[in-house]
Amino acid sequence: MIGLNSGHRRSRDANAVVTGAGSGIGQAFAVEIARRGGSVVVSDINESAAQRTVDVITDQGGKAMALRCDVSSPQEVAVLSREAQGWFVGPPTLVVNNAGVGAGGQMIGDTPLEDWRWTMGINLWGVVHGCHEFVPLLRAAGYGGIINVASAAAFGAAPRMAQYNVSKAGVLALSETLSAELSGTGVHVSVVCPTFVKTNILDNGRITADLTALAARLMRLSGVSATRVARTTLDAHDRGALYVVPQPDAKAAWAMKRHLPRTYTRGAGLLARVGPLNDGG
Ligand SMILES: NC(=O)c1ccc[n+]([C@@H]2O[C@H](COP(=O)([O-])OP(=O)(O)OC[C@H]3O[C@@H](n4cnc5c(N)ncnc54)[C@H](O)[C@@H]3O)[C@@H](O)[C@H]2O)c1
Repeated sequence: MIGLNSGHRRSRDANAVVTGAGSGIGQAFAVEIARRGGSVVVSDINESAAQRTVDVITDQGGKAMALRCDVSSPQEVAVLSREAQGWFVGPPTLVVNNAGVGAGGQMIGDTPLEDWRWTMGINLWGVVHGCHEFVPLLRAAGYGGIINVASAAAFGAAPRMAQYNVSKAGVLALSETLSAELSGTGVHVSVVCPTFVKTNILDNGRITADLTALAARLMRLSGVSATRVARTTLDAHDRGALYVVPQPDAKAAWAMKRHLPRTYTRGAGLLARVGPLNDGG
């Protein structure tokens, strides 16, 4: 039985569902999972973007289908689960809760509550919905994997990004809890915390113009490709890693935050007062 074969790599020949797979990191996961022999349900709120990813996969001889799904809607994620099971003729073996949006630019107190709700609705509730629907299926099957896409923002405490930071910290805590709950079941959980990745995330978020300009510069300077993040994460998932911190700057922030948390947050405060994250106000 496949679940008892600890040598089996979950990223190979998977029946996978990837959310937000019409662009960026989600698209890279979908393409890479298909390249590793998997069948992929490519879901996205933007159906034509999802279809473009499917076209890339099928052009390379892979198997994929597009499904529109807004992850902030529990009903739509339930439909995604049903349709995916119908297409696979069984449960998925790998779920990548990736869909997310960028948000930031104002301090806590100035950030409109509507922006908080919008960000949490997609970035955190979207992952909650994905876990709520798919975890029972994987647990019952006794085999599979869940990969949640968080961010280095989960522990980075960057000023003027509270709603994004909090949403990603929630994804990190959710993934850690899920990993504990699924221990010994044959279902493995990974959570990936990248810093900058070259994607379209700055185009469709709710980010002020000055922060978008700064993030675009940093993305150009230090961003890695989405393909690299997807491959690194899938390989780490196959090795049984819970935390995937794929870039050196993210690793440095992660280590500093763990070992010198107060020094770290004082440094973040300095960025807010006099550094590039000062809002000029
Ligand atoms: N790009 C980065 O620097 C970076 C860094 C760390 C983490 N991340 C995370 O990676 C994930 C993917 O982002 P990306 O950088 O590839 O961005 P992207 O904008 O290129 O892709 C995101 C995709 O998600 C889709 N989407 C948006 N809202 C959705 C919703 N409600 N339901 C379903 N799909 C939705 C979009 O249509 C888009 O196709 C996000 O969770 C993001 O927070 C990105």
